[in-house]
Amino acid sequence: MKVIALYSIKGGVGKTASAVNLAYMCAQGGNHTLLWDLDPQGAASFNLRIKAKLAGGPKALFGRDIMRYVKQSDYDNLDLLPADFSNRKLDLLFDARTRRKQQVRRLLESVADRYDYVFIDSPPGLTLVVENILRAADLVLSPLIPSTLSLRTLDQLTEFVRHPKLRGLRLWVFFSMVDVRRQLHREVMKQLATQRQGLMRHFIPYSSDIERMGVIRAPVEVFARRSQGGLAYRGLWSEVARRLTDHG
Ligand SMILES: Nc1ncnc2c1ncn2[C@@H]1O[C@H](COP(=O)(O)OP(=O)(O)O)[C@@H](O)[C@H]1O
Ligand SMILES: [Mg+2]
Repeated sequence: MKVIALYSIKGGVGKTASAVNLAYMCAQGGNHTLLWDLDPQGAASFNLRIKAKLAGGPKALFGRDIMRYVKQSDYDNLDLLPADFSNRKLDLLFDARTRRKQQVRRLLESVADRYDYVFIDSPPGLTLVVENILRAADLVLSPLIPSTLSLRTLDQLTEFVRHPKLRGLRLWVFFSMVDVRRQLHREVMKQLATQRQGLMRHFIPYSSDIERMGVIRAPVEVFARRSQGGLAYRGLWSEVARRLTDHG
């Protein structure tokens, strides 16, 4: 089982859109896939038409097998562990437990035999929930909007994952919401391409189809088959899958 977290310190950069589309494509490839929506806003659950609710609230997760809370999506091989609004309290719940940074990892151990891939849609920020996610992940995929601040964001993140306790965690960055007509976007992308090893070759353009996911509530490829956005996510997923195979 490989655990892939969609994470950035910043909000509104495409974490959720990417988690939903990549998990969908992974599942389409025949992999048993779980998407864990750990953002209290529940946008990933919403996009897959699943109610952002855990019976008994997030506290109940700890007591029982988490499979009790897993829902089947409308798509083959793709399951979802929904968000819950009171996930906001998850920080406090984790904090009250021993090994408070290893709770997500521990909960995932119980499903390790069932899934080939687990995608985690992460909230932004540097909270205890985020630390838990980073401890559980094999790979962090981080969307980056090519702006003047993106270098700084990336430096912060790189610094953060350098923590000794996160040794072995890979950080791969991809550009998101790219507008190739904007000179600034092109310049920043060019500048970063020469500096960063973990940078993905594929990027996600700004696309009205991706934006419409929240209205139609489905992965982009489902309702816009040959759209630029869908093709971009497909390309990104093959690159990620290939790299994971190459890197073991
Ligand atoms: N490539 C894209 N092109 C256009 N709109 C996008 C794209 N990716 C995401 N969005 C839209 O931008 C908003 C923020 O994206 P989201 O994935 O929710 O970001 P995050 O999870 O990082 O907060 C959402 O309304 C989403 O539909
Ligand atoms: Mg989100």
